[in-house]
Amino acid sequence: MLVLGFQGSPRKKGNTHFLLSNFMRAAEKLGAQTQLIEVAKQNIVPCKELIVCEKKGYCPIDDDMKHEIYALLRQAEVVVLGTPIFFYNMTAQMKALVDRCQTFWARKYIFKLKDPARKMRRGFLLSVAATKGKNLFEGLELTTKYFFDAIDASFDGSLTYREI
Ligand SMILES: Cc1cc2nc3c(=O)[nH]c(=O)nc-3n(C[C@H](O)[C@H](O)[C@H](O)COP(=O)(O)O)c2cc1C
Repeated sequence: MLVLGFQGSPRKKGNTHFLLSNFMRAAEKLGAQTQLIEVAKQNIVPCKELIVCEKKGYCPIDDDMKHEIYALLRQAEVVVLGTPIFFYNMTAQMKALVDRCQTFWARKYIFKLKDPARKMRRGFLLSVAATKGKNLFEGLELTTKYFFDAIDASFDGSLTYREI
């Protein structure tokens, strides 16, 4: 079983990295194969709204989404999205990855294609933020909900920490 973790902070050894690597270590101890992607180190071009995915079912942009991440997202049984809060949502680096998953949305909702792993793939959210407002994680949770839906993962839970 592949547990795929996306680390969305641009800080190399920051709070999100600490949280996600502990999560991945625990998954390994339970017998999972894990892969942690440092999103800020990847070459991920933000969506250009070329609409090719909605007309043809694939994204023509030639970058690390095409070379590695789309395939990993299909292979993974668990997808963990780890990000600090930046202005009440995920970081821009992580949002670029999420937006590029419009191609999965198109395949699912326009082309009506069924991913064979759709019933077993699970999504999990990890996040940290500096302040402590009641609504701090609401924007992130909403975006994550629709990301997980597009990649055919059930939103199985989240661990979010304030005042970090
Ligand atoms: C551009 C930017 C925007 C931020 N926006 C918020 C915010 O809206 N609310 C909040 O509580 N913290 C905000 N923070 C603070 C980070 O979420 C916090 O410092 C977090 O612990 C950083 O995690 P990291 O070490 O994994 O990067 C922001 C930080 C930056 C750099």
